[in-house]
Amino acid sequence: MKTKITELFGIEHPIIQGGMHYVGFAEMAAAVSNAGGLGIITGLTQGTPERLAAEIKRCRDMTDKPFGVNLTFLPAVTPPDYPGFVKVIVESGVKAVETAGNNPQKWLPALKEAGIKVIHKCTSVRHSLKAEQIGCDAVSVDGFECGGHPGEDDVGNWVLLPRAAEELKIPFVASGGVGTGSQLVAALALGAEGVNMGTRFIATKEAPVHENVKQALVAASELDTRLIMRPLRNTERVLNNEAVERLIAKEKELGDKVSFADIAAEVAGVYPKIMVDGQMDAGGWSCGQVAGLIHDIPTVKELIDRMMAEAHEIIASRLRRFDA
Ligand SMILES: Cc1cc2nc3c(=O)[nH]c(=O)nc-3n(C[C@H](O)[C@H](O)[C@H](O)COP(=O)(O)O)c2cc1C
Repeated sequence: MKTKITELFGIEHPIIQGGMHYVGFAEMAAAVSNAGGLGIITGLTQGTPERLAAEIKRCRDMTDKPFGVNLTFLPAVTPPDYPGFVKVIVESGVKAVETAGNNPQKWLPALKEAGIKVIHKCTSVRHSLKAEQIGCDAVSVDGFECGGHPGEDDVGNWVLLPRAAEELKIPFVASGGVGTGSQLVAALALGAEGVNMGTRFIATKEAPVHENVKQALVAASELDTRLIMRPLRNTERVLNNEAVERLIAKEKELGDKVSFADIAAEVAGVYPKIMVDGQMDAGGWSCGQVAGLIHDIPTVKELIDRMMAEAHEIIASRLRRFDA
C-alpha cells in the first residue's frame, strides 16, 4: 500500500511501531522493519549514547530495511544526555526519528541537516500544528485510547483524527488503540496516512519482553486499563494491577496534594522488573485500550500481513458495497 508515510520513510506498509520503554530494542525494531513496517528503537531505554550506538548497530545487523529511533523529551531534574543521543543518531546514518514529549525544535536543525525524517508524537491538534510549524515531516496523532501518555485533553481518535485532517498540511498517522486492519482502513478514511502501534506489538513472538507481559495482554479486556498521575498533569494509561490500585488509592486519599515522591514506589524504575523479570504487579506500565482486541501472540510478520490483508479486503469488497 502506497501512502505519504510509506513514501516518506521508504517502507512497504503504512505501519509504524512507536518507541516503547524496555520494549524498543533491536529485536523489536528489526522484526517490524523486516515485516515491511517502520521499527523504532527506544533511545532513552538504552541509557547512554554509546549503548544506543551499539543497539543501532545490532539492529542494522538484523535488517537491511529502514528503521528509526525514538527520542522522548521528558521534564527531568537531571536531563538525559540529549546532545549525545542526537549526535549518535546523526552519525549512525539512521534516517527516521520519532520524537515525543516536549517540543523537539532545538534538535531539529541537526536532524534535518543529516537528512533524517522526523515524526513527532502529539496528543492534540494544537501541538500537531506546532510540530508542523517548526518543521517536522509528519505527526503521530495519539488519541485518548493510547497506551502511555495520552495528554490531558481526553479526545479520542474518532474526533481527534478528523480534526487533525482539518488543520494539518503535513501527513499524519493514527496512533492509539490500533491493532487491526479495519482500524487501519478507518484511520485512512479519517485522513491519516497510516498507523502507529505500541501495545499491539508487545504481544508478538519477537517482542523482547517476558512471556508474562504478553499473556497479560491476551488476558486483558478494553476495560482493564487505568489512568494514573493525572493530578501531576503527567497522565499515563497503564494496565491495572495491584500496584496501580495502590497508587490510585493514594491519589484519591491525597487529592491535589499528591507528589511524585508519594507514588514513586509504584512507578519509578519498575520497567525492568515487569518487562525483563515478568513481575506483573511490580508497578504501573503503559498499556492501551487495544488490549481488548489482542487475542493471540503472532509473529510480527503474521500480524502485519494479517492487518494488510484485512485492510485490502475491506477496501476492495466491504466498502465497495456501500458505493452504489
Ligand atoms: C509499554 C509502553 C512503553 C512506551 N514507552 C514510550 C516511550 O518511551 N516513548 C514514547 O514516545 N512513547 C512510548 N509509548 C507510546 C507508544 O510509542 C505509542 O505511542 C502508543 O503505545 C500508542 O498507543 P497503543 O498502545 O494504543 O498502540 C509506550 C507505550 C507502551 C505500551
